[in-house]
Amino acid sequence: MRLDKFLSVTGTCSRTDAKRAIRAKGVSVNGCVAKSSDVQIDEERDEITYLGRVIVYRKFNYIMLNKPEGVVSATEDGRERTVLDLLPSGVRNDRMFPCGRLDKNTLGLILITDNGELAHKLLAPKSHVDKKYRFKSRDAIDPEDAMRFEGGLTLEDGYVTLPAKIELDGDRMGGVITLREGKYHQIKRMLEALDNKITYLERISFGPLTLDPALERGEWRYLSEEEQNALESHAK
Ligand code: URA
Repeated sequence: MRLDKFLSVTGTCSRTDAKRAIRAKGVSVNGCVAKSSDVQIDEERDEITYLGRVIVYRKFNYIMLNKPEGVVSATEDGRERTVLDLLPSGVRNDRMFPCGRLDKNTLGLILITDNGELAHKLLAPKSHVDKKYRFKSRDAIDPEDAMRFEGGLTLEDGYVTLPAKIELDGDRMGGVITLREGKYHQIKRMLEALDNKITYLERISFGPLTLDPALERGEWRYLSEEEQNALESHAK
């Protein structure tokens, strides 16, 4: 693997910053200062340091994407653009998939990975990973409906939701919802159970990950080492 790619896939820095650091002699391979970004390294064996810090190689990719509207959370779709289509070909591999689903018109944080075992643990119903969503509703939510929402609602198919959390804005027509499960169209169906309607939905966190405000819609980045560690501990 190229040295600059190694630094970006490990979440150390962007490829541009990697090139800059290499030019400034801030990167070394097995104790020798690296001379160019395209030097090939053995990621399993070589010891790479970046600005004096040893960089640990990880077998898997973890990508945070800020999902725009109109894109589906799937690996492939005959008709629609998928979240995987937003990744450049040099980044994407055919083992990657979105960890969980957002509706086509829902925005925000989606994790893409090729670590099936970790994703399986995070998505298992018993894991109860918290997911936070910023939302807006058609009608104001009164205190009684907020209490029903938090206690668990019966959806149109008879499913009773787990207790959830709703923090309302001053006008009570939006705020932040926290779910510990992820049923199909769950928030939309919960609002429908209250004779209301979601008009805007954006996921702002998933377990220990928070949507990076520097990412524009459709933009992505590798998780930092700290974020990867937090995710792995969360999945235990
Ligand atoms: N709930 C929904 O209704 N849609 C989503 O995309 C996520 C949670």
